[in-house]
Amino acid sequence: MLSNLETIYTYAEKWVREAGELIKQSFSKELLIQTKSNPNDLVTNMDKEVEQYFIKHIRETFPEHHILGEEGYGEKLESTDGTIWIIDPIDGTMNFVHQQRNFAISVGIYVDGVGEIGFIYDVIHDELYHARRGQGAYMNDIELPKLDPVSVKEAILALNATWVTKNFRIDPSVLSPLVTAVRGTRSYGTAAIELAYVAAGRLDAYITPRLAPWDFAAGLILINEVGGVATNFEGTEIDLLKQNSIFVGKPGLHEEILENYFRKASR
Ligand code: IPD
Ligand code: CA
Ligand code: CA
Ligand code: CA
Repeated sequence: MLSNLETIYTYAEKWVREAGELIKQSFSKELLIQTKSNPNDLVTNMDKEVEQYFIKHIRETFPEHHILGEEGYGEKLESTDGTIWIIDPIDGTMNFVHQQRNFAISVGIYVDGVGEIGFIYDVIHDELYHARRGQGAYMNDIELPKLDPVSVKEAILALNATWVTKNFRIDPSVLSPLVTAVRGTRSYGTAAIELAYVAAGRLDAYITPRLAPWDFAAGLILINEVGGVATNFEGTEIDLLKQNSIFVGKPGLHEEILENYFRKASR
């Protein structure tokens, strides 16, 4: 008999793939684009439709489960009790609108606050990153190896250029020496894929001052499975239901950056 989590995993994978199909089919149709908090904060009919697609299926199949989704069709949650699906229907909406690539569906499933199942689906590359707690992380059928330590000078760091210019979230003098010290920097415009890439060893670390639960819920589960380290900028635990600064990286590298850049700046 399938365990409860196996059943949830099987359904989640099916819905993630089906949602990917819906998104691909939408390319031949007209996209309705609106803005949310500012002119660069985009949302489309597909962000909304995909979130509603998940919610309909989850409510029919697992009526006792809770749902938190970016577009607000789920619930407002104050507690991590029970089984919670944390869904970003399209992570990287700006890329979706402008590039029709470099976006992902992100689904993290937590039970009593513990990350159990994570899916990040890069629809265009047909790369499905998935993990179950204690059972390793995969990209499609390939098991992702445990992450090996790397030094700052050999690291590829993902971060948005905004954070080394004048901004109101982080003093540029914290990250700018780090950007100079690393081998290279990258910015993909989708937190979910950036987290999946850290889990897959394609990036060595990812730093961003503010993400919402749906941006990081699935990624943290993947990173955990491959021995990566995930904290906020203070080096402490990420709060699942709130916006957090997020710093993930390979073991060793995470400690080195925390000590020599974040903590040095606050001393
Ligand atoms: C955004 C992307 C982006 C990150 C933003 C997120 P959305 O998510 O992940 O890379 O920098 O903070 O809001 O709105 O495209 O789902
Ligand atoms: Ca958004
Ligand atoms: Ca997002
Ligand atoms: Ca989104």
